[in-house]
Amino acid sequence: MADPIILDESIITPRPLDETFAYISEFNSIEQWDPAVASAEKLSQGATGIGTEFRITMRGGAVLHYTVEEFEANKRVLMSVKARLFSAEEEIRFAEQKSGTEVRYIAKFNFPGSVAKISKAFPWVLDRVGKATMKGMQHALDNNRPAPQPSRLLATADKLLVPGIWRFTSLGFKEAKRRWQPDSAYLGGKHAVITGATSGIGEAAATALAARGAKITLVARNQKKAMAVASDIIRETGNPDVTIEVADLSLMSEVHALSVRLLASGQPIDMLINNAGALFNPRQETSEGFEKSFALLLLGPYILTESLYPALKKSDDARVVNVLSGGMYAAKIKPSDLHYKRGEYSGSRAYARAKRGLMIATENWAERWRGDGITVNAMHPGWADTPGVQDALPAFYKITKRLLRSPGQGADTAVWLAAAAEAAKASGKFWLDREQHPSHLRASTRESSSERQQLFSELEKLMQNTRPATPKRKATQKKPVASTARLSA
Ligand SMILES: NC(=O)c1ccc[n+]([C@@H]2O[C@H](COP(=O)([O-])OP(=O)(O)OC[C@H]3O[C@@H](n4cnc5c(N)ncnc54)[C@H](OP(=O)(O)O)[C@@H]3O)[C@@H](O)[C@H]2O)c1
Repeated sequence: MADPIILDESIITPRPLDETFAYISEFNSIEQWDPAVASAEKLSQGATGIGTEFRITMRGGAVLHYTVEEFEANKRVLMSVKARLFSAEEEIRFAEQKSGTEVRYIAKFNFPGSVAKISKAFPWVLDRVGKATMKGMQHALDNNRPAPQPSRLLATADKLLVPGIWRFTSLGFKEAKRRWQPDSAYLGGKHAVITGATSGIGEAAATALAARGAKITLVARNQKKAMAVASDIIRETGNPDVTIEVADLSLMSEVHALSVRLLASGQPIDMLINNAGALFNPRQETSEGFEKSFALLLLGPYILTESLYPALKKSDDARVVNVLSGGMYAAKIKPSDLHYKRGEYSGSRAYARAKRGLMIATENWAERWRGDGITVNAMHPGWADTPGVQDALPAFYKITKRLLRSPGQGADTAVWLAAAAEAAKASGKFWLDREQHPSHLRASTRESSSERQQLFSELEKLMQNTRPATPKRKATQKKPVASTARLSA
C-alpha cells in the first residue's frame, strides 16, 4: 500500500461550539454540505457515538461506509471509511474561538497502488474536493439567509392540473429538494408540541425534531399508542426528552383541558405543529354537537393555538405550523354553515372547507402576533403514504400508491418551518416542499372581509362557550384527571 494522501482543511464559523458540533457530528448532514454527496443515511439507532454507522452515496454512485471510531463531545469525531476503491480515516476537530468555532477536517486516504499513483499525479483534484467540502460546510452553518421568496413560475404551474398534481408526489419532492438550502438550525433546549403524533406525518415530524435534540410533547388521543410511539422515538433518536399528552382533539372540553395542562407546566412552546386530522364519511357529530371535520380540523386547532398564546409568547422564536392540504384549493369557507348542515354532505368538501378555515386563521395569527416574535405558517405535505390516506381514500391510495411520498417526506416542510432559521422570516404563508405557494388558485375561493369577520366571531364564540367554568373556591376544586404521561427512557 502506498503512503496515505492527506487532506487538512479548516474553517471558522460564527456559530457556537455546541451548535456546530451537533450539526456536523450528526454526519448524515454531509448531504447538505458536501457537493459530491448525493444522499446520506444514519444506519444506527440512538445518539451518535462510538460505533455509529453512516452510509454515504456519492453523486457518481460510489457508496462509502462510515463508522465512528472515537467520539469526544464538542471536541472531535474520528471515523473509518470503507469504499470499493479505497479506505480512509477522517477526523473532524472542533475548537472554540473568540469569533465562533473552528472546524478542522483531516482525512487520510489509502488508495491501492495504481489509484494512488493517479491521485498523486493530480494532487489538485483532491485539494479541490476538500476545499469545496469546507466551503459547503461554511455555507451550511450560515443561518442568516433570507426566507425563500414566492416564484411566479411555481404559482403558474400550480394552476395547471398536471404540474400542480405532479408536485404532490414523491417525484415532485425529489425535484424540489434540488433547490433547497441547508438547514443547520440548532434545536437543543427547544420545546415542540405536535398533535396527531401517533402515526404518519405527525410521527415522522416528531421523530425528526427529536433527532435534532428538541424536547418533544406528543399529543394523542390513544395513550397506549402514544407510549409505544414515544418509546420508538426515544430508541431511534437517543433523545429521552419525549412526553405524551392525551386528548381527543375533536372534543373542545379536552382541547381546553390540554391547553390548561400545557400552560400549567410553565414551559415555553417554541414549536406547535397542528397536524392531527382525518376525513369523515358520512357526516358525524361529536358528543358536543359539532360536525367532526369542523371540530377536529378547525375549531380544535383554533382553540388550542389561541389558548397556548402565553406559552408561545414566552419563546424568543415561536413557530406555529398548521398542516393543511391541497384539497383546500377547491374550497371556500362557509362561515354561516360551519357545521355543514346545509346541502349534501361530502367528507372531502367538509375537510377542504375546514383546512381553508385554518389557512384564514393562519393569516390572521401571523398578522396579530407579528410583534410578539411568533410566526404562523401553513403547509401542504403533498401526498404521503400514511394510515390516514390508506383508510380514508382506499381507491385513491390504490391508484397513487407507487407515487406517494414517505411520511418523512410529507413531514419535511413542517419540520423545516418549525426549525430552519430562514423560515422564521416568513409568516402567514402557505408552503409545499419549503417553497411558498399561493393560498388560492381561483378568485371564487376567496372570502370577503365580512366572511372573515363572521368566521372569527363564530370561532371566538364557540371558544368562549366551550371553555369550562373556572371553579370559584379552591376548597371545592375537583382533582383533575391525570392525562399527562411521562415516559422513562
Ligand atoms: N397523507 C397525506 O397525503 C396528506 C395530504 C394532505 C394533508 N394531510 C394532512 O396531514 C395530517 C396528518 O395526516 P396523516 O396522513 O399523517 O394521517 P394519519 O396517519 O391518519 O395521522 C393522523 C393523526 O391524527 C390523529 N388524530 C385523528 N383524530 C384525532 C382526534 N380526534 N384527536 C387526536 N388525534 C387525532 C391520529 O391519531 P390515531 O393514531 O389515534 O388515529 C393520528 O395520529 C392531517 O392533518 C391531514 O389532513 C395528509
